[in-house]
Amino acid sequence: DGGVENAVEAFKRGEPVLIHDAAERENEVDLVYPAYAVTPSDVARLRNDAGGLICVALAYDVAEAFGLSFIDEVIDHPATTDTEIEYDDRSSFSLTVNHRETFTGVVDNDRALTISALGEAAQRPSETEFAAEFDVPGHVHLLKAAPNLLEDRQGHTELGVALAERAGVPPAAVVCEMLDDETGGALSRTNAASYAADNDFVFLDESTIIDELGTAD
Ligand code: 5RP
Ligand code: CA
Ligand code: ZN
Repeated sequence: DGGVENAVEAFKRGEPVLIHDAAERENEVDLVYPAYAVTPSDVARLRNDAGGLICVALAYDVAEAFGLSFIDEVIDHPATTDTEIEYDDRSSFSLTVNHRETFTGVVDNDRALTISALGEAAQRPSETEFAAEFDVPGHVHLLKAAPNLLEDRQGHTELGVALAERAGVPPAAVVCEMLDDETGGALSRTNAASYAADNDFVFLDESTIIDELGTAD
């Protein structure tokens, strides 16, 4: 485990970290990678070891430059009128995408291409013609961080993007929930911390990130 500095070093090397959000929020641990560095074997780890939904969280300004709204703002369907969730004010879901050079979009090679290209695009949002490079719908879920990041919202979306920003890597983070095959629930904080220790990955609580990165700079 460790502090934010160890997580920052991991992100600079393209390695994942585990992030637990508040116990009174989702109380979940996500496996989180800096998007730019994701390879096919990383996608295999995400689906085999984490098992949740593989998403790319983008900084608010990056998502805005790409023309990406929150999904409930752009889908005109009655099911998007009442979008309450129990543990937060709103979800961070935006659209789903594939890189245009993928075939089905779902295999590890395809998702790694989509994810790493999103990371590279996030480095130079104003030079990216999003629709020329990516198509919607696809097999990677995009998440849009809150405008003032951790000041506004403390989800894995914002925690992952905050870490990427501090590491000086493109502000795009892959997040995927650690699930438990035995219980059918989320993997407990204790078991996720053991997984992190077994694999030499940094494990962070949201409070550690918020204490160090949560104030406006
Ligand atoms: C998408 C989710 C996950 O919880 C993910 O961690 C991002 O959401 P949040 O920012 O709300 O934690 O719902 O799989
Ligand atoms: Ca969730
Ligand atoms: Zn989450």
